[in-house]
Amino acid sequence: MQVIITANASAAAAHAADIVERTLAELEAPVFGLATGSTPVALYQALIERHRHQGLSFAKLTTFNLDEYVGLPPEHPQSYRHFMQRELFDHVDIEPANTFLPDGMSDPLEAGNAYEALIEGHGGIDLQVLGIGRNGHIGFNEPTSSLGSRTRVKTLTRDTLEANARFFAPQEFQPSLALTMGIATILEARSILLIATGEAKAEAVARCVEGPLSALVPASALQLHPKVTVIVDQTAAGRL
Ligand code: GLP
Repeated sequence: MQVIITANASAAAAHAADIVERTLAELEAPVFGLATGSTPVALYQALIERHRHQGLSFAKLTTFNLDEYVGLPPEHPQSYRHFMQRELFDHVDIEPANTFLPDGMSDPLEAGNAYEALIEGHGGIDLQVLGIGRNGHIGFNEPTSSLGSRTRVKTLTRDTLEANARFFAPQEFQPSLALTMGIATILEARSILLIATGEAKAEAVARCVEGPLSALVPASALQLHPKVTVIVDQTAAGRL
């Protein structure tokens, strides 16, 4: 695990964008795993800037997002499909047909298996971008998720529901189920880039990087992977 500590969140995003850009340049048909949440937004903004001003192209890229809410259609403003369109896809030259998220509207068991098959059919993921939940979750793999888990439905914890409530209006339906790549799915990516910024993530980062391997801290499973880069700003590195 390589841990890079940057001065602030925008430096973390710039460093992450460098890694993304390098990986895009190296591969003929790159396949990226992408994440939602507020953390990767700065990375996506940096990539959009590079697309607009430096000609960075996403035309040959295929993407698989980590997760999607069960019961939210793609056009719903809180769906992760909508998030990805708004925060990245609508602003770059990626082929819409090459962007995939789990299907939160169909039979969840079938949707999980179908997503796994789709990833495998594309030769697996070259670079998986991850954020981290303050309880140490990755994707929506909440604490106690099996380290061998694959794409499936997870019930979100109260802590995660509270943390994400800010994205929903007060009376709005907030799903408590999500389809998420499993921990084993994530570990199969050939390289992993985890970004964490802000003091609220400091404990989760410390347990991910330095704590014991435990299903109670899903991100600690990344210690098993040979090629993980963790980019943290100073505040998120505060307990390392
Ligand atoms: C959600 C997402 C995760 C993300 C986490 C942290 O639960 N499913 O992929 O890492 O939130 O989000 P944020 O970056 O907003 O703190």
